Amino acid sequence: MLTGKKVVVGVSGGIAAYKAVEVVSRLKKAKAEVRVIMTRSATEFVTPLTFREISGNPVASDMWREPKTWNVEHIAMANWADLFLIVPATANIIGKMASGIADDMLSTTVMATKSPVMLAPAMNTNMYTNPVVSANLSRLAELGYYIIPPATGMLACGVEGPGRLPEPELIVAEAAQLFTERQTLAGKKVLVTAAGTREPIDPVRYIGNRSSGKMGYSLAAAAAKRGATVVLVSGPSGLSQPENVLLKKVETAAEMRQAVLAEYDDADIVIKAAAVADYRPSVVSEQKIKKNDGTITLVLEKTSDILAELGREKTHQILIGFAAETQDLLTNATVKLTKKNLDMIVANDVTVPGAGFDADTNIVRVLYRDGRSEELPQMSKESLAGHLLDKITALITNND
Ligand code: PMT
Repeated sequence: MLTGKKVVVGVSGGIAAYKAVEVVSRLKKAKAEVRVIMTRSATEFVTPLTFREISGNPVASDMWREPKTWNVEHIAMANWADLFLIVPATANIIGKMASGIADDMLSTTVMATKSPVMLAPAMNTNMYTNPVVSANLSRLAELGYYIIPPATGMLACGVEGPGRLPEPELIVAEAAQLFTERQTLAGKKVLVTAAGTREPIDPVRYIGNRSSGKMGYSLAAAAAKRGATVVLVSGPSGLSQPENVLLKKVETAAEMRQAVLAEYDDADIVIKAAAVADYRPSVVSEQKIKKNDGTITLVLEKTSDILAELGREKTHQILIGFAAETQDLLTNATVKLTKKNLDMIVANDVTVPGAGFDADTNIVRVLYRDGRSEELPQMSKESLAGHLLDKITALITNND
């Protein structure tokens, strides 16, 4: 699973840094491409030269040295990575990542990456069990970072307890497992809708909403990374087309309905994250409506409820809806789940800061048709997409 994968290994300053050399060596033997970033303290334990020789690539550690190319180095590495692996992860780098601090090459690059990030914490037992470190690790786990728990044993400081870096072989196996997991949707067709629709009033005006498309695009990108064939039907959005996703652009609810129905029959999973207009002007003026002294009245008619129609015509598909609510979140979402014949609904209270329209993060409650429900903490829409796909994959497995 590691063949051809691009792995950035971040080495922070702990005695276990020497074991990171073997991790890099094993990644190379597994035919991964590896680039190493070291913190300044890490260079006190192992020289950059060692990592350069083992990885076959220059080692980055200084933000301020003269760059060899015009690429902004930390951004280029952040974009390059399929996986970011931090070995060992000291209490310091964990604290920085959990608090959003970016003050050196490693912390800045990891903040800029969109790839999965896996950490192997290693430190003295008292440091590892310190509540601040535990809280920081929990926060990172909630945000979607993968944590490889440390082993228990005799530490370099002479103390026995948890905090030892796991064996390099295990760390590399965890990294490979992550790529395996991410192919869990191979052979499945996933249809995602995103962004808001626009219902024209006249040639220059429309009724729209605040959906940016971030939630739906994150879901489409995550499904493609897990090996699915993905069709993304999107209303107008400034976001760029996710890799390996077929993008079908639409404007109105009617166009979205047509595009979705055309892809529905052979879809295995449908995720409707789009904010579709419930009403449209019943007459669209051919000319720009002129201003006059009085008020004007716009008569609206109902659009088709696309998701309800999919629910009625459902054969084998797993149907996932979203519910954007401003009050009575659970009650309203439960009604939609039942009425539209869904397998799962993702309810977001769009009045909460950090949730809903145009935010980079979301806070949701997931409801299932058997009455179960789970609340997820605030996390980036990219991380949430991963969590939701895990839950959807579990639904398929139970269905098969
Ligand atoms: O795009 P972002 O800025 O990232 O914001 C994300 C989001 C807030 C738009 C997203 O998380 C979300 O909540 N999407 C659903 C918005 C919505 O329209 O909710 P609703 O409760 O009105 O609709 C319920 C479900 O029915 C939705 O899955 C919707 O796509 C679907 N629907 C609604 C009306 C309609 N005519 N046809 C539909 O298919």
